[in-house]
Amino acid sequence: MSRTIFVTTALPYANGSFHIGHIMEYIQADTWVRAMRMAGHTVHFVGADDAHGAPIMLKAEAEGITPQALVARYASERPKYLDGFHVRFDHWHCTDSPENIQLSQDIYRALKAAGFIDSREIEQFYDPVKGMFLPDRYIKGECPRCHAKDQYGDSCEVCSAVYSPTELIEPYSTLTQARPVLRSSEHFFFRLSDPRCVAFLQAWTTDQRADGTPRLQAEVLGKTREWLGTTDGDAANLADWDISRDEPYFGIPIPDAPGKYFYVWLDAPVGYLASLQAYCKKQGLDYDALLAPDGDTEQVHFIGKDIVYFHALFWPAMLKFSGRKTPDMLHVHGFITVSGEKMSKSRGTGISPLRYLDIGMDAEWLRYYIAAKLNAHVEDLDFNPDDFVARVNSDLIGKYVNIASRAATFITRHFDGALAYAGDTDALQAELRACAGQVQADFEAREYGRAIRRIMAQADKINQAFDSAQPWVLAKGIAQADAAQKTALQDICSRALAGFQALSVMLSPVLPALTQRVAQELFGRPQPYAWADAADLPGHINAFKHLMQRVDPALLDALFEPAETPAPLPGGEAIAETIDIKDFSRIDLRIARIVECTAVDGSDKLLRLSLDAGEGRLRQVFSGIKSMYQPEDLAGKLTVLVANLAPRKMRFGVSEGMVLAASHADEKNNPGIYVLEPWEGAQPGMRIH
Ligand code: 2FM
Ligand code: ZN
Repeated sequence: MSRTIFVTTALPYANGSFHIGHIMEYIQADTWVRAMRMAGHTVHFVGADDAHGAPIMLKAEAEGITPQALVARYASERPKYLDGFHVRFDHWHCTDSPENIQLSQDIYRALKAAGFIDSREIEQFYDPVKGMFLPDRYIKGECPRCHAKDQYGDSCEVCSAVYSPTELIEPYSTLTQARPVLRSSEHFFFRLSDPRCVAFLQAWTTDQRADGTPRLQAEVLGKTREWLGTTDGDAANLADWDISRDEPYFGIPIPDAPGKYFYVWLDAPVGYLASLQAYCKKQGLDYDALLAPDGDTEQVHFIGKDIVYFHALFWPAMLKFSGRKTPDMLHVHGFITVSGEKMSKSRGTGISPLRYLDIGMDAEWLRYYIAAKLNAHVEDLDFNPDDFVARVNSDLIGKYVNIASRAATFITRHFDGALAYAGDTDALQAELRACAGQVQADFEAREYGRAIRRIMAQADKINQAFDSAQPWVLAKGIAQADAAQKTALQDICSRALAGFQALSVMLSPVLPALTQRVAQELFGRPQPYAWADAADLPGHINAFKHLMQRVDPALLDALFEPAETPAPLPGGEAIAETIDIKDFSRIDLRIARIVECTAVDGSDKLLRLSLDAGEGRLRQVFSGIKSMYQPEDLAGKLTVLVANLAPRKMRFGVSEGMVLAASHADEKNNPGIYVLEPWEGAQPGMRIH
């Protein structure tokens, strides 16, 4: 039976480039979409940029552009990544779009009419200088428990205490350094605690789907049971959800509430619908029929484990009580780690997807490696460079491509490309059909690793059968050989190539470009593969062409090298990547007096400085400025110190910071280095903003 499936991936915030975590999710979803299409199902696969929220507004402001321009800039670079990794969304939209505004406001009105929206006055920190309410992440202060300085408004990175921003000692706004004041304002809440909501979510999270498969993975179900209080008979303890923000905010205006906007997480998932709607318009499809509340379309969301709360509670409840279709399935994945190391969400991991492509690595290596390591559980996936090289080279080249290169060579040389099978082929077809059937089921169940293991076991079998028949022996003197020997050689090679075609069918959700080439260039088939093609016995093969390069381990070294600095502009060095004021404020620059300056025995580059940065003690800093200054030139002068740089152990002692100095981009030909000196009036200890 042919199904209609609506598939999404989490919408990325439009204030940063894709990192490898995004790419992993897209590869996972794209692979699933392709596998489902191969079964004849109709799949609509859409994405969008998540455009709203305070961070995007503030970043745009820091750059002196509109949030729309910022969003457009990131949107414009998306295709490079998506095309590069063969991720084929049917449509890519934006949450800052007319469709999304309309849908979000409609959903809100329906929820309000059904009694699911409350309003309440709440008190929050407000930055009087900036004139805005401060999200928790823009408030810092001293931890109320361990008294560590400069901790975020919601939790302490030093002692892990969790608290509310109002508990911080000496709180300050990271935007202006001002002391925030408490101010009250009216907020709107979605009544998640409403008994109708709780009852619905208890049923929705535990219901089986029509085909008997669960809607949620076991781990995810476990989490929702905790939240819904169904683990040990507790009553549900769901807090109502604050869905409004006060201006200034980049978001969708709340109807009949001047100066109020939807919190970004209200309109973000609605962006799934907006993207589908825009796609339907473009394609002449009936959006309303497609997402009719009791229709047959399956709605499937691929997301990461950090956003389950939004997708398993708020989102289905919003849809349900605004009279819409609810999601059929969530596919939750873990994070990607690199050699076992967790990476930050905003900075991404050590692997830059663009660098991966730029240095000429094959996107399908990564698709294969990720597929081989993915399963249906919420587990982190580790990218290990040695493992990557080994798997791609031994599986894809050594097992898969190898079959075609060996067998096709005989067929081209001795049989002019014609394949012929001696004796019974039913067993061969049955075997290939059965294997493909299991692989198809593995892909549908998102057990990609299991699918890959099965495919490679089949590849091993094909290689073994080929090797044990010793076709190279049969091929010796084939011109003078009898018909039986020719038939035998042709049969062995044909069976291997039928197997190779079946493997190509099974790998095609993971390796769409390579298997498309196999279909077209080797077997002369114009269509992309369907699952049923696995049992097809090809009758002809064209001369073998090089299919895929082995991974050169040196590429992995190149991948992990720190990205090259941008090419110098004519006459100088390119300006570094844009940062916002928050990034800048992490660097604590202080005025310091050079109390003492001495040469360092055994070093022709360094001077040792004793600095007074107003701390009531002196710091020792080593600086590579000896070529330009005599110690007595510097003693007594003021300069600028990077005061919060981690101390560094050097051969001559510990250096506790760094003094600022200017130099030419081309240091070899222009070796000068010039220490910075503040204007008169600056005092040791003053902070530089
Ligand atoms: O966590 C994030 O990156 C969000 N931008 C995901 C939104 S998913 C959906 F709700 F739009
Ligand atoms: Zn603490």
